[in-house]
Amino acid sequence: MGVNISYMGTKREIAPAVVDVISAAAKGVALDVFAGMCSVGEALAPYRQVWTNDVQAFAYEVAKAVFTECDLPLSRIQISDLHYEKYHSHRTRISGAFATSLAAEADLLESETFEQFEARYSTFKNKLAVERVSFASDDLYALFTRLYPDTYFGLGQAIEIDSVVAAIEATCRTGETSPDHRRWLRISLGRAMLRTANSTGHFAQFLKPKAGSFRTFLRQRRRGMWGEWLNSADEMQPVGTSDWRKGNRSFNMDCLELLPSLAGSDQRPSVIYADPPYTDDQYSRFYHLLETLLLYDYPKVDGAGIYRIDRFRTPFSVKSLAGAALEQMVTAISNTGADLVLSYPTNGLIYEAGHDPLLIMKKHFRSVERCYAISHDHSTFGASKGLAKSAVTEQIFLGRV
Ligand SMILES: C[S@@+](CC[C@H](N)C(=O)[O-])C[C@H]1O[C@@H](n2cnc3c(N)ncnc32)[C@H](O)[C@@H]1O
Repeated sequence: MGVNISYMGTKREIAPAVVDVISAAAKGVALDVFAGMCSVGEALAPYRQVWTNDVQAFAYEVAKAVFTECDLPLSRIQISDLHYEKYHSHRTRISGAFATSLAAEADLLESETFEQFEARYSTFKNKLAVERVSFASDDLYALFTRLYPDTYFGLGQAIEIDSVVAAIEATCRTGETSPDHRRWLRISLGRAMLRTANSTGHFAQFLKPKAGSFRTFLRQRRRGMWGEWLNSADEMQPVGTSDWRKGNRSFNMDCLELLPSLAGSDQRPSVIYADPPYTDDQYSRFYHLLETLLLYDYPKVDGAGIYRIDRFRTPFSVKSLAGAALEQMVTAISNTGADLVLSYPTNGLIYEAGHDPLLIMKKHFRSVERCYAISHDHSTFGASKGLAKSAVTEQIFLGRV
């Protein structure tokens, strides 16, 4: 079942074709080196041991939960019983410092016309600005309240996120939940944040409400984080049997560092699946809040989207660097002795920069073929491409050592 999280560039639709190509490669462990939300690993589960890697912490936590976890996720009733009191008392404490802004926000959420909405929004913003400055709490769990009220989330929603985090940490500290449970619970909260945010399924920028969009804005702002969190928790399960999961591994590294380290190791995958980013949309910009949720480190932020300034920039999403990065990756994979299965679409950045993945692979593998060219809808989430979905021709290459 996995985590059912929509993700930019997901291969969910073409996962069966990827599995088909992988089945023609050498037998043994398959490493998905850009695992994202694990759609290919899930489809591979009945056939092989699966190792995963992703440089983003949230993607790593998802893969670890789905492919290696021992403790199953808790049910919504168990979660509620264990966390509600802690959640509620934290929420009440933080809310006390924002009483007038929360009242103004409640009014705002009842707006019926755009004129009413505009007037109430400006009252809310003014009150929030005052209470933010005087918010003196040294409570550890107030990151989203401090940095993100009235952005991707409303003030009440930001307080709820912090309160869920406080409850998750408290129950894990007291041993009422295990570290595995904590992982599932934090992933569920990330999923709930994606569903609740005022954006199109990511955190690259939040919507500024206009006459035509204020109702969508209000609908999103009315969603309660606690309920969304429980709903999300209900929709996640690990993949495969617990015995199968014991044979899997997950890494959280830049693949250009991980792959060379595998060449000298006595445990190695026999096939490596690579689905690198292929647009100039940096994943760390689209999903920065998921990283911040996990790190909970009060990062320095900047930009219209309030991004972490220390976010990872992948060379695969920089036109002038993508060709060299692919060459470095293909070389490192061939040095491990594993076969390579590569997904890369015909409109990817590497082609724009004048390189050809097929020719790069041919320099390093004994035989290379393009096994599939599939036209499918690629999720852009209304990113820089403007459309929520755009048609691309996805290609799958197989290189044998
Ligand atoms: C196209 S997505 C993979 C989608 C995945 N196949 C799925 O179906 O969900 C690319 C992934 O590569 C990760 N990534 C980008 N640069 C990386 C790097 N240098 N090393 C490891 N992972 C990287 C991103 O965080 C993102 O999750």
